[in-house]
Amino acid sequence: MCGIVGYLGKRQAAPVLIDGLYALEYRGYDSVGIALSDGSTLKIIKKIGRVKEIESARAERGMVGIGHTRWATHGDVTAENAHPHTFRGITLVHNGIIENAEKLKKQCIEEGETFASETDSEVIAHLIAAEYRGDLLDAVRRGCARLVGSYALAVLCEGEPDTVVCARMRSPLIVGKAKDGLVVASDIPAVAEKDASLYSLEDGDFARLKGDEIEIFNAAGEKTLRERMEFDLEDGAADRRGYRHFMRKEIDDIPEVLRASKEEIDRSFCNLDLYRVLCQTEYIQVVACGTAYHSGLCFQAALERVCRIPVEVDIASEYRYMDPIVRRGTLLIAVSQSGETADTLAAVRLAKRRGAFVIAVVNVKYSSLARLADAVLYTRAGREVAVAATKSFNAQLMALYSIVEAFAAVKGRRVPTLSHIERRAARTIAAAEGVRGWVPYFVGAKSVYFIGRGVDMCTALEGSLKLKEISYLPSEGYAAGELKHGTLALIEPFTPVVAILTRRDIAEKTMNAVHEAYARGASIFLVTCFEEFCTEKEIASSVLIPKCPSDFSPILSVIPLQLLAYYVSIARGNDPDKPRNLAKSVTVE
Ligand code: F6R
Repeated sequence: MCGIVGYLGKRQAAPVLIDGLYALEYRGYDSVGIALSDGSTLKIIKKIGRVKEIESARAERGMVGIGHTRWATHGDVTAENAHPHTFRGITLVHNGIIENAEKLKKQCIEEGETFASETDSEVIAHLIAAEYRGDLLDAVRRGCARLVGSYALAVLCEGEPDTVVCARMRSPLIVGKAKDGLVVASDIPAVAEKDASLYSLEDGDFARLKGDEIEIFNAAGEKTLRERMEFDLEDGAADRRGYRHFMRKEIDDIPEVLRASKEEIDRSFCNLDLYRVLCQTEYIQVVACGTAYHSGLCFQAALERVCRIPVEVDIASEYRYMDPIVRRGTLLIAVSQSGETADTLAAVRLAKRRGAFVIAVVNVKYSSLARLADAVLYTRAGREVAVAATKSFNAQLMALYSIVEAFAAVKGRRVPTLSHIERRAARTIAAAEGVRGWVPYFVGAKSVYFIGRGVDMCTALEGSLKLKEISYLPSEGYAAGELKHGTLALIEPFTPVVAILTRRDIAEKTMNAVHEAYARGASIFLVTCFEEFCTEKEIASSVLIPKCPSDFSPILSVIPLQLLAYYVSIARGNDPDKPRNLAKSVTVE
């Protein structure tokens, strides 16, 4: 959801900004821009498209600069709407959404000001310019006081060409000292380098970067210190390791990610005093978005069957507006890869206000969610660069299934174990390569259906989301038994239907839906751990995955669906790593 970066120091800023923006492209890649100051003049270069569009700006001079990669919210994808925005000597980049932008804009227009873009961000430059009386920090503070919404800002001023001022409100922002200069960015990989000292701003903070000094002020205007962030340069590395796409590499990472996540989570359980939390838990709610929401559904299916504890799983953007009932003894589990998803954060804030204890299952250290939660279980998926989540989903399942195991221990229930899961994941990936043969059936399809029962339905939903987001094919994940209640009308000759079948006790029931779809001409594809179904006459092709406790089976059965989406995306000429209209980290509501 837009990435921002800034630099001032002894080096030329342009290469630092451009390299930083490449690392932030996962946040948006509609358009890109930088502003550079050489002390006397300010130059703005902005283009539609990805960061490579401004490669030629590397040679531009200026030791102070800010940059932005955009995911459009207000206004089309045009060069005018690209950041930086500038007004009367104030130039800025913004990540977030200004909810009262229209009202503020109207007031500015009434005062005779004109706007060059359709964005909500430009109005911030107008407000700051109106407040500027020789002190940029003060002007930014006063300007921001009029904003409703979320923002991470980096601001330059003609009158103070040696200064960058930053502000944070519900959009992530870090500041720090790097080699030969000071930096600001939406995320660590944009500015991480050996020996850099990085600090994450809190909501309401402002920071002034000048000379070799960073001053941070809290919402009350008091000078403050923030905790230094530890980071691992390896984690931040965006290395495709010879793979054509990050997504394919990230699927191959799954076995190691499961091993590392299990190790991390076992360690966290020791420190968390989780046993006490679980003993006091009477109700469980899960909030998340997208793929993370699907992992919540998988958790629900497992926990309810294994431990007989009811679980409510809510889409975070719905939870926050449904006046949720949070009873005494509620444990809320918030699941997120990035830890910056605005809807998930808002749901957590609400649940906390209403008295829930919050555990975050999150992949990114120092993320807003990690800091907001009462306790954190970190997944160890490493950096996920492809916009479509793959390995982070498997890692979330690993963490959530560990919670199931912990609950089972508390309740004195027997639980199947996930032993050697990394080996089984590796075997699944090898078997799942077979989906390449399915691609011709999918590549020109009008629509695709994924069906399953129980936990397999959760996997179906995730398989469908994956296919939609990177192949752009209309697709639905559906309860197998529900097909005949309406959706069967959409099945035409050769419509691809993927059935997931990992629970032996209801396998025949799922096969009923397969027969019904086949009878209407569908081409049926199967993901199963039961060999006997692979040879049924209805099945065009199947992937046989290793056996695994059925309640935990999505951790394996989703892999062929991730690979299917990947290969179909490529066959349709798409970039699976950067699907149109999407960004990896959804920091706006
Ligand atoms: C799908 C995908 C999204 C995210 C969702 C939540 O492949 O990546 O649906 O799962 O935006 O993001 P996080 O997990 O960062 O909260």
